[in-house]
Amino acid sequence: MTPTSARPLHIGSAHVIVTGGSSGIGLATARLLAERGARISLIARGRERLEAAANELSAAARTADVADQTALTRAIRELEEEQGQPCDILVTSAGLARPGHFLELADEVFREMIEVDYFGTLYALRAVVPGMVERGRGSVVAVSSAAGLIGIFGYSAYGPAKFAVRGLMESVRAELAPCGVHVGVVFPPDVDTPQLAEENRWKPAENRAVGGTIKPLTAEKVAAAIVAGIDRRRFVICPDTGTRALARFGSVLLPLLNREFDRRVRAVGKAKKRA
Ligand SMILES: NC(=O)c1ccc[n+]([C@@H]2O[C@H](COP(=O)([O-])OP(=O)(O)OC[C@H]3O[C@@H](n4cnc5c(N)ncnc54)[C@H](OP(=O)(O)O)[C@@H]3O)[C@@H](O)[C@H]2O)c1
Repeated sequence: MTPTSARPLHIGSAHVIVTGGSSGIGLATARLLAERGARISLIARGRERLEAAANELSAAARTADVADQTALTRAIRELEEEQGQPCDILVTSAGLARPGHFLELADEVFREMIEVDYFGTLYALRAVVPGMVERGRGSVVAVSSAAGLIGIFGYSAYGPAKFAVRGLMESVRAELAPCGVHVGVVFPPDVDTPQLAEENRWKPAENRAVGGTIKPLTAEKVAAAIVAGIDRRRFVICPDTGTRALARFGSVLLPLLNREFDRRVRAVGKAKKRA
C-alpha cells in the first residue's frame, strides 16, 4: 500500500488545511505554519472572521459547516484545486463546547457536540486520508481536549464527543502509520480563546471549583505544541505538563482525581445551601 517513491513531508512545501482556522487554536496554528512557508487553506462558517484570517495569512479559504459532509468535502476539493496541490497536512480544530448540568442540557446539545466535534473531524479525515495513503505521506492532527481524557463535571455533552475524537485517532493511527501518514491528537486544557469565553458563560459553579484556579494557556502555546507534534510525528500532543500527566497516567490517577473533584463539588453544594 505504501508507494516506494514516498517522499518525506516538509512543512515548507506542504499544503495545510485547517478547519476552524478563523479563530483561536486553529488560527494560531495556521499562523505558525504560514511562517514556516506552508500554503494555508482555512475552513470555518463565519465569512467575516474567515476572510480577515485569510487576508492576514495570504491563505485560501472556504466557508463550510464541518458537520455537513457534502459541504466540507466540496470545500476541501475546491481548496486543493485552488492551491494546485492536494492536502498534505490536515489540522481539525473546528469545534464547540457547551457545558451545563446533565439534567438541564437539551437533547440537541448532545447531538450537536457529536455532529460538529466528532463527525466534523471524521468527515475531514475521510476527505483527505485516501489521497495521503495513495501518495504515501501526510499528516492528520485532530484537536480533542483534556475533556477527552477524563470525564469532567458539566461536560457530559462535549466530553463524549472529544473522547470519540481521541478514539478515532487512536484507531486510525495504527492503520495509517504503515502507509506513511502521521496521525496526531491534541489534548489542550483551558485555552484563552473566544470558545472559552463562550463556555465560561455556561459553566456550572461546580465546574469552576473542579477546574480550580488553573490559568488558561494561550492559543499560541497550543499551536507551538501542534507544529512540534507534526515535525516530530508525535501521536499524543499535550501543550502542558498537567495534561501530559493526565494523558499518560489518567486511568491510574482517576480514583484520586475523582475523590478530589467530588470533595470540591460537595463544597459548592454546601455553599449553595448556606446561601
Ligand atoms: N479553548 C479551549 O479552552 C479549548 C480546550 C480544549 C479543546 N479545545 C478545542 O479546540 C478547538 C478550537 O477551539 P478554540 O478554543 O480555538 O475555539 P474558537 O476560537 O471559538 O475557534 C473555533 C473555530 O471553529 C470554527 N467552527 C466552529 N464550529 C464550526 C462548524 N460547525 N463548522 C466549521 N467551523 C466551525 C469557528 O468558526 P465559525 O464559528 O465561524 O464557524 C472557529 O474558526 C475546538 O475543537 C475546541 O473544542 C478548546
